[in-house]
Amino acid sequence: MHKYFAKPLFLGKKIEFLTECHSTNDELLSRIRIKDEQEGFILYTDNQIKGKGQRGNAWLSEPGQNLLFSILLKPKNLQIGHSHYLNLIAGLAVCHTLDQLFNLNTELKWPNDVYVNDRKIAGILVETVLSGHLVDDAVIGIGLNVNQSHFALPSATSVQIETGSKTDRESLLESIVSGIEAQYLFLKSQAYDKIKAAYYLKMRWRGELHEFRDNNGVFEGEIIGIDETGRLLVKTLEVLKRYDVKEIQFLH
Ligand code: BTN
Repeated sequence: MHKYFAKPLFLGKKIEFLTECHSTNDELLSRIRIKDEQEGFILYTDNQIKGKGQRGNAWLSEPGQNLLFSILLKPKNLQIGHSHYLNLIAGLAVCHTLDQLFNLNTELKWPNDVYVNDRKIAGILVETVLSGHLVDDAVIGIGLNVNQSHFALPSATSVQIETGSKTDRESLLESIVSGIEAQYLFLKSQAYDKIKAAYYLKMRWRGELHEFRDNNGVFEGEIIGIDETGRLLVKTLEVLKRYDVKEIQFLH
């Protein structure tokens, strides 16, 4: 048996299960367009017909095997310029939960793909609703491979593959939500440096020489971190480069 964390205190008070939907992110975004939902509202499902990934990709998941959920945050006073911290805290929450429950050694491929043993175990898609220069609502969508044991992509893994056993998805959801709550409190107290330092400890390839591709072709460089707007910083022999998410590919 794995040990699960204490119940979250203020997130996940309202939680709704959908047997199937297009995308929990889209569903939650359309709910808040119609009606003011409370912070911490969670929608989760067994199957997404149109699961969304980053960069316009699809998120594919075997029905009934994995965690597919979205949680609503209402971060009062979060400046748009700091909105990338929502990505960082969500990634950290997933990593810390998986490490503690299953003794995994997760890493975060910038901005927030969760990796174990060089394979992706979870993806995160944060979508925000803005009001002036502040983030009004944030929908954090998480797809975590839990009990699926075969993938079309050799670069994907799951908790089942990594640990050899099945996991109760609802207990795991509760643990991740507790983790999000803990990280969210750091964000609310504007502990940006602390969050960034925790992120750097988990950041995949940081401080190592690797190959990347950008608009100008393939090059070798070293990830040194992220800048104040969340862009990736890669140092080459000649120059320090900054990238948005669509502008760079990690090769090997
Ligand atoms: C990625 O790595 O590309 C991000 C994947 C995010 C997938 C989750 S599953 C729950 C939520 N609903 C969606 O449509 N996407 C996110």
